[in-house]
Amino acid sequence: MPSLQVVLDEITSNMASEVDRGQPADFIPELSQIDPGQFGIAVALPSGEVVESGDARIPFSIQSISKVITLAIGLGRLGDGLWARVGREPSGLAFNSILQLEQEGACPRNPFVNAGAIVVTDAVLARNEPREFLAEILQFLRTTSGHNDIFINEDVAKSEANNAHRNWALAHMLKSRSNLFNEPARVLGAYFHQCAIEMTCAQLASAGRFLINANGTGLISQDNVRHINALMMTCGHYDGSGEFAYRVGLPGKSGVGGGILALAPGRAAIAIWSPGLNKQGNSALGTMAAEQLARRMGWSVF
Ligand code: DON
Repeated sequence: MPSLQVVLDEITSNMASEVDRGQPADFIPELSQIDPGQFGIAVALPSGEVVESGDARIPFSIQSISKVITLAIGLGRLGDGLWARVGREPSGLAFNSILQLEQEGACPRNPFVNAGAIVVTDAVLARNEPREFLAEILQFLRTTSGHNDIFINEDVAKSEANNAHRNWALAHMLKSRSNLFNEPARVLGAYFHQCAIEMTCAQLASAGRFLINANGTGLISQDNVRHINALMMTCGHYDGSGEFAYRVGLPGKSGVGGGILALAPGRAAIAIWSPGLNKQGNSALGTMAAEQLARRMGWSVF
């Protein structure tokens, strides 16, 4: 087995010479300003050791990776009741697509497309104050990562709120079909802020250990770990999920900030960040790096 540090450094150097780096997200103006030249990677092992390379200590916007955390909390709190409001199938459409929502009775395909994540946020928010909801998400990430310096970037949350016409459309459609308890503005306020949490690769990899059944925090059940991994494998990269499974062979969740959290069950939690996105809105270099790492370490689940 090659040394993990050597492999990560090699991948970082491979990525430095990559010319086709994708485009940073343009629909959140604050994110479109970020330098696509950056690349970081960190791997957290069951022992708690974290091995890192490149820009692994620069905070980035976790965006949709936060959907994994709300799902973990939601499943813990509501159990299978959550599945009355959201499905467990890949959508085959873009993360922010509106198409299926009306056709399918406002029951979103899965908890990772925006419509499904808005429903999960609504369910976890319930009758609480948005600030209590956000404190719970931050606490979850601080506890699982062992890092207290994890915060929300208010400018990113505002920047999205002022431009998220598709999310407003999704929330109003959900409300019109009685699949939101809260008013759209209240749910979306909470949702935009959860997406605007910033973490480094090193922090995210550490936090991800609760999903590889290795840190014994008992924060979520074994069943929920298995279920969330299955959903990450089938739906975590939206209409790029098949491609990610084919190339990388690991459950993963992407965010439009350019982050990816990937899991090698029982072995490692992996966080990769590079802001340039491919046409499905997933990190272009992140996917490439995950593919190289899984191959070098023999970590594909297949
Ligand atoms: O709701 C949105 O569109 C963004 N806050 C998050 C989307 C996202 O991260 C999609 N992932 N690749």
